[in-house]
Formats: sequence, structure tokens, C-alpha cells
Amino acid sequence: MTALTFLTFAGLAAAQYSNSVGGALPAGIDAPMTSGFSNPTVQPSRGGAAICVSGHVPVMASAENVMFNFSIPANESDVTDTFLKYITQGSTFAQSIMGGMHNVSGNYSIGATLCMPANGTIPSSVQLLTHGIGFDRYYWDFAAGYSYVDYAIEQGYATFSYDRLGVGLSSTPDPIQVVQGPLEVSIANQLAMSLRNSKFGGTNFSTVIGVGHSFGSAITQAVTSMHPTTFDAAILTGFSMNQTAIPAFVTALNLQIASQNQPYRFAGLNNGYLVDYSAVSNQYGFFRAPNFDPLILAAGEAAKGSVTFGELFTQAAIASPAMNFTGPVAIVNGAADLPFCFGNCSYPMNLAEAAVNALYPASMAKDNYLAPSTGHGVNLHYTAMDAYKFIGSFLKQNRY
Ligand SMILES: *[C@@H]1O[C@H](CO)[C@@H](O)[C@H](O)[C@H]1NC(C)=O
Ligand SMILES: *[C@@H]1O[C@H](CO)[C@@H](O)[C@H](O)[C@H]1NC(C)=O
Ligand SMILES: *[C@@H]1O[C@H](CO)[C@@H](O)[C@H](O)[C@H]1NC(C)=O
Ligand SMILES: *[C@@H]1O[C@H](CO)[C@@H](O)[C@H](O)[C@H]1NC(C)=O
Ligand SMILES: *[C@@H]1O[C@H](CO)[C@@H](O)[C@H](O)[C@H]1NC(C)=O
Ligand SMILES: *[C@@H]1O[C@H](CO)[C@@H](O)[C@H](O)[C@H]1NC(C)=O
Ligand SMILES: *[C@@H]1O[C@H](CO)[C@@H](O)[C@H](O)[C@H]1NC(C)=O
Ligand SMILES: *[C@@H]1O[C@H](CO)[C@@H](O)[C@H](O)[C@H]1NC(C)=O
Ligand SMILES: *[C@@H]1O[C@H](CO)[C@@H](O)[C@H](O)[C@H]1NC(C)=O
Repeated sequence: MTALTFLTFAGLAAAQYSNSVGGALPAGIDAPMTSGFSNPTVQPSRGGAAICVSGHVPVMASAENVMFNFSIPANESDVTDTFLKYITQGSTFAQSIMGGMHNVSGNYSIGATLCMPANGTIPSSVQLLTHGIGFDRYYWDFAAGYSYVDYAIEQGYATFSYDRLGVGLSSTPDPIQVVQGPLEVSIANQLAMSLRNSKFGGTNFSTVIGVGHSFGSAITQAVTSMHPTTFDAAILTGFSMNQTAIPAFVTALNLQIASQNQPYRFAGLNNGYLVDYSAVSNQYGFFRAPNFDPLILAAGEAAKGSVTFGELFTQAAIASPAMNFTGPVAIVNGAADLPFCFGNCSYPMNLAEAAVNALYPASMAKDNYLAPSTGHGVNLHYTAMDAYKFIGSFLKQNRY
């Protein structure tokens, strides 16, 4: 069956279930409690293993962000020139825009989805899923046969995925001074604490596992470093400490003003919100041929998520050694990841292994996995399930 057929089936299934709460769900399926969500809707996951509540959750967060001496570009030409300055050898651009630090705080509305097993059991463990640049929360439940949510649910976990601040259905504040790495770390930490404290779905989860992709891994990693008791275990996908290829990645994405690229999705956003230019840019950044279905690339491009200047300028600054984190940690990459490995995670050494060792001196168990012939968007390749199985057995081996 082709991927588009999968997507169509998933869409049909969603349409069947997309009654607002109180509407009829098929016999034998209990809707999870929707407490904590405003405007909740209830739908199955792509593969049907989970029943999920989606809506908005309020998050009060604060952080010390960077004050950038940089204003929202007037036009596309200024955007392109900004990235040329950013990648120019010997340039002082990065220093020139540093204007010190400032505290930001606010009450943000975060688009989120809590999934529980469709058979009505209530897991005691939940995985907090933080997506990366170029996607939104649906990265984790993209299509039947690719869904990390379905896999995690079948392994007995609940999942909580959310749109990063500035992405998808979440609030879209100032893209330079507010939507930055530090504040997003605070939001992830708050969400994890809320999952422990019965704020969502009326369930007290006793175990919370942080799982990230790319920039979402940097955020998850920063939570383990700044708040070492928030997560019991962490899985960082599409991640390393090697930043050599970030300029190549940013260039490959060929970032364009989001509201000009897809006005039908991003018309309300100012010029500080960007997206990759095309399916070609998306393939450069996230995929490796022939290990993916071209229809999945097309679907990823159609559903792509935005990124802000504030995030791009702070993405490298938030990860740091988690001296006090003792839980198990694994790094899971596509072996041919562009941004974090320059196309080869085994060169000049295993970069996933090097990163987990450098960042987690006190961890009880460390491991890594490189999915063969796979790019940065691990979950959208034919090897996705191999990566998920590694994650599942790593967590089970360590009693999570
Ligand atoms: C901000 O940048 C402008 C030019 O780009 C410069 O004239 C100004 O002095 C800078 N301000 C600070 C506070 O660095
Ligand atoms: C873009 O805006 C700048 C001002 O920031 C202006 O100087 C330039 O002419 C504009 N370019 C185009 C192509 O509109
Ligand atoms: C931000 O707030 C913290 C705690 O209140 C304070 O210690 C810090 O100095 C503040 N940072 C700035 C840049 O004002
Ligand atoms: C957020 O909401 C809480 C409770 O309503 C309020 O006490 C707080 O002042 C708000 N914070 C900001 C930064 O608006
Ligand atoms: C319900 O489904 C979950 C997730 O697939 C599974 O772990 C659990 O054993 C199932 N429980 C029953 C009673 O079938
Ligand atoms: C969750 O735990 C807190 C204290 O840890 C308790 O007060 C609360 O009743 C629990 N809620 C549920 C739904 O079990
Ligand atoms: C880590 O542990 C050390 C020693 O107990 C303590 O001084 C430090 O504040 C801790 N750091 C964090 C981020 O919890
Ligand atoms: C980072 O990767 C580049 C190749 O992309 C390599 O030349 C460099 O030695 C690596 N640095 C570290 C610290 O691993
Ligand atoms: C990646 O680098 C390793 C170590 O130099 C090398 O053995 C391997 O062939 C490279 N992989 C590719 C796909 O070029």
C-alpha cells in the first residue's frame, strides 16, 4: 500500500472519530478524560493503537532569554542576506546581534495531544514528545506504519506531544525576543511537571520520559541539565554536540518567510517566522534517498512547521552537560544525518556515542543507535520502526 493510501485511511479514521467530546465513539472505545484541555477533540492515533485527546493547554513559563539587537526583516531579501551573514566565514554577525540577557515570562497557550491505549488501560508512564525544526507535534504520529505514538502506546506508555511555542496551534509571540530556546526549555519542564501532577487527562503519571527530535532533543537535553529530577529517562533523536554542519543545514533549508511561502497556513505570522522553501529543501535537510517514500516527503512538505529567528540564533546555546542527571539516556540518529553529523554520524567517530558520553557523566545507562542510510527526519524513513524498537528495548532493559 502506498503512503498516500495510508494517509487517506488515517484521515478517514480521524473523520469517523472526530466528534466533539460527548459524541459517539465506536463501541468498546473509552474516551480518555479531557481535563486540562480547552476545546478538546478526541481522535485515534494513525495506526489506531491509541485514543487521543487534543486541544489547548495553558502553560505559565519564564526564562532568561537573549536580547537580540536584530529587528524583524522587512522582506525576503533581508531574510536571505541575514543567513548569508550568519554563515559567512570570519563574520562578526553573531556577536554583533548579542544585546545581553533579559527575563521573559507569560501565559502561553500550547497545542497538545495526550494519547492513551485504545483498550482503556491507564499507563503509569508517559513520554513527553518534543518535535524539532520543520515539523509540529504530528511528527510523532505522522502516518500509519510510521507513528512513534502507536509504537510507544503498544509498549504500554501514554504519550503527550505538543507544538513548540510559535509552531502549529501554539501561541505565536515575538519571534526574536520571546520564541527562543531558553523559554521553550521552561515550557517543556512545566509540561513534564504537570503530567506528574495530574493536570492532564486526570492522570498522575509516576514516570515521565523525555523524548525529543533535533531542536526538541536540545530542549529535552537542557531540561535534564537544568532540572535533573524532571525526567526519569531521556531519548534524544536527531542530535549530537557537533555543530559543524548547522550552517550547511540552514543553507539547505533555504528559509523563506512563512506567510509568503504558504499563505494559506501562515498568513497571520510576521516576517520573523520562516519555513523551508520547498520539497527539495526539505529533502536536503531531513531525508536520505532511497530510504524514504516520496509521498511521505510530499506530505511532510505540505504539513511543515515554522521556525523563528530567535530559535535559530539560540539553538546551539541551550544544551550543556547534565552533571546531576542519573537516569538512562540514549541518542538515536539517522546514520546519514545532515545537521548534527554532516551526513555521516560515524565520522570522525560515532558522534551519538561521543555526545551521550560528554553530556551524561552521571547517567546509570547510556547507549546510542544509528539507523542505517537514514537522514535527520528519522521517523519519516523506512527505518523508523527499527529506531523505535531500539528505543523500546533500551527503556525496558533499564526498567522503564
Ligand atoms: C544595534 O545594531 C545597530 C546596527 O546594526 C548599531 O548601530 C547599534 O549600536 C546596536 N545596538 C546595540 C545596543 O548593540
Ligand atoms: C528590503 O528591505 C530593505 C530595508 O530593510 C530595503 O532596503 C530593500 O530595498 C528591500 N528590498 C526589496 C527587494 O524590496
Ligand atoms: C532574571 O531573573 C532572575 C531571577 O529572578 C535574576 O536572578 C536575573 O538576574 C534576571 N536576569 C536579568 C537579565 O534581569
Ligand atoms: C499568568 O497567569 C497567572 C494566573 O492567572 C497570573 O498570576 C500571572 O500573573 C500571569 N503571568 C503573566 C506573565 O501574565
Ligand atoms: C491494553 O493496551 C496496552 C497498550 O497496547 C497494553 O500494554 C495492555 O496490556 C492492554 N491491556 C489489556 C487489558 O488488554
Ligand atoms: C495525584 O497525586 C496527588 C499528590 O501526589 C494527589 O493529591 C492527587 O489526588 C492525585 N490525583 C489522582 C487523580 O490520582
Ligand atoms: C548539581 O549537584 C550539585 C552538587 O549536589 C549542586 O551544587 C548543583 O546545584 C546541582 N545542579 C543542578 C542543576 O541541580
Ligand atoms: C565535528 O564533525 C566534523 C565533520 O563534520 C569533524 O571534522 C570534527 O572533527 C567534529 N568535531 C568533533 C569535536 O567531533
Ligand atoms: C563515514 O565515515 C566512516 C569513518 O571515516 C567511513 O568508514 C564510512 O565509509 C563513511 N560513510 C559514508 C557513507 O561515507
